[in-house]
This record gives sequence, C-alpha cells and structure tokens, in this order.
Amino acid sequence: MHVVLFFVTTISISSLFQGVSADYGDRASKSSSSPFEIALENLQKQLDYKFQSGGLLRRAMTHPSFSGENNKALSILGIRVMETSVALSSLSRNTEISAKELNRLLIDVSEENACAADGLRLGLQNVVRVSSKTNASMPLIVCGAFRAVFGAIAVDATTVDAASKVFWIVHGDGDLPLLSS
Ligand SMILES: *[C@@H]1O[C@H](CO)[C@@H](O)[C@H](O)[C@H]1NC(C)=O
Repeated sequence: MHVVLFFVTTISISSLFQGVSADYGDRASKSSSSPFEIALENLQKQLDYKFQSGGLLRRAMTHPSFSGENNKALSILGIRVMETSVALSSLSRNTEISAKELNRLLIDVSEENACAADGLRLGLQNVVRVSSKTNASMPLIVCGAFRAVFGAIAVDATTVDAASKVFWIVHGDGDLPLLSS
C-alpha cells in the first residue's frame, strides 16, 4: 500500500517537474534555430560553460516584464555568488584585509553600474527577453541578467565553484590571479 503510494507520488512529482522544465521557454524557442536559441548557444560559448539544463539559461535571460518565469530569483543567488567569489579571493590573498576594505570590494562588484558594464560587454542587452515596451539596455535589466547567469550556473552545476570560475572569466580581474586560472 505504502509502496504503491510512493510510486504514484514519485510519478506525479516527476511529471510536475517535466511540466515545469517544458515551461521554461515558449514554444517558438523550442526550435534550435530561433534567434533567441542561437543567442543562448553563443552566450554559452562566451561563458565557456555548457548548460545541462538549457531551461535555466533561458530563464536567466528572461526579464520579469516578459514572463512570470523570469530571472529574479536566479539573480538573487547570482549576486551572492559574485560576492562570495570576491570575498573568498580577497581573504585568500590577504587575511589581514579590513572589514571596511572587504565591504568596499563587495559593494564595487554588486553595484549596478559595475555589473551592467560586465553585462553590456557580454552583450546581454541583445539576449535578454523583455516586453516590447521595455528597454533591454537599461543598467538594472542588464545587471539582473548578468547576476542571473551565475545563479543559473550554480543551480545547473549544483555548485557555487562552477559559477565562480565563470564569474572570474567574464569579470576578468587581473588583480585576482588566485581564482582566475
Ligand atoms: C535605452 O537605455 C539606454 C541605457 O540607459 C540608453 O542609453 C538608450 O538611449 C535607451 N534607448 C531608448 C530607445 O530609450
């Protein structure tokens, strides 16, 4: 009896998940030749990271103005990944760093202009899906997409390390050689 219930539950949960992942993209984006899918392929090459779950990158490149299935939560994780990367690298190089200096470095990396610059350099303004009334080049939107990339990689790889590695590649801080190799 319990065993049967278990199986029924498992099946319904897995079909639920299938439903969720199928909903990551709209129907048109299923075609691998749509401009959005091509942009996602190119972005993965730029990041030097291949997603197991393409749906996660699709979601990372979806602004809330476009869909309810968007990058908001991924970008929250992403900003923590960026801050963790900088804090770990800074403290690994210098355990004597002051709290004030470390906080300054964390603010620098998460600040909107900084992450928008990184995002624009990657060309995310040309990838992220927004509503027709929304300007995808606005710093907050580019920044959200940029942060969401690292949230998406961390979830995809089930480790922050993978996301941190990509962060150093695209952020490209020559002063932080320890984790940039
Ligand atoms: C979109 O936003 C960018 C960055 O804020 C700005 O430079 C550009 O002029 C805006 N484009 C339009 C059409 O408003």
